[in-house]
Amino acid sequence: MLDLKSYFGGPELFTPMERCIVAHARGAVLDLGAGGGRIAAHLQSMAGPDQDVTEVVAVDASQGACSCLRRFGLRSVVHSPWQRVMESGIWHGRFDSVVLAGGNLGLAGDPSGLAVMLGWLRGLLRPCGTILATGLAPWPPPGGCDALPVRFRVEYAGRVGEWFAWLTLTPAALELAAASEGLRVERWLLPADHADFGAQLVRI
Ligand SMILES: C[S@@+](CC[C@H](N)C(=O)[O-])C[C@H]1O[C@@H](n2cnc3c(N)ncnc32)[C@H](O)[C@@H]1O
Repeated sequence: MLDLKSYFGGPELFTPMERCIVAHARGAVLDLGAGGGRIAAHLQSMAGPDQDVTEVVAVDASQGACSCLRRFGLRSVVHSPWQRVMESGIWHGRFDSVVLAGGNLGLAGDPSGLAVMLGWLRGLLRPCGTILATGLAPWPPPGGCDALPVRFRVEYAGRVGEWFAWLTLTPAALELAAASEGLRVERWLLPADHADFGAQLVRI
């Protein structure tokens, strides 16, 4: 069961990991799979030319999410799946921080998608940029290094969404995939044995 309230709440509902993401975001920030915009909107509210965060760009594949993002006041909203943004070839070296909150490493869909997504995100970073990424480990925990695709859909108040592919992965699987794409874990945002984990990735 997902607690939908947390997807639309303000900073008072942020988890410790989300507070950690917000604390480490710097410069030009890309929020990939920004959803209702709770984190993007908070980051934008802190943004300014002389602030730690200077601007926020929010991307989401869902029309409804993008409407929410605009309603939340996000100035730069791109309605697209990340795969199409990647194919367009824009934004090389444009961002200081990329945020994948809410377990959004899952957007990779499968292990090969993870390599593609991480390699693309690395290319979007400025030289000292970081990726603040969260993921959900497979359940029950397989132990070791594993990345397992699952299928997912959301049901709410009698409405049922489309099935979509979601990648669950262990912290070790993230570390391995990151290394093969020229990234390393600078720090874990929570103890790495937690089912719901986060990492700050930097270029090797
Ligand atoms: C688990 S929610 C997380 C939302 C937000 N990051 C948060 O923490 O509240 C995943 C979001 O990713 C979006 N999404 C799904 N597939 C996507 C894709 N291929 N590219 C971009 N966004 C996608 C969904 O529409 C949804 O808003």
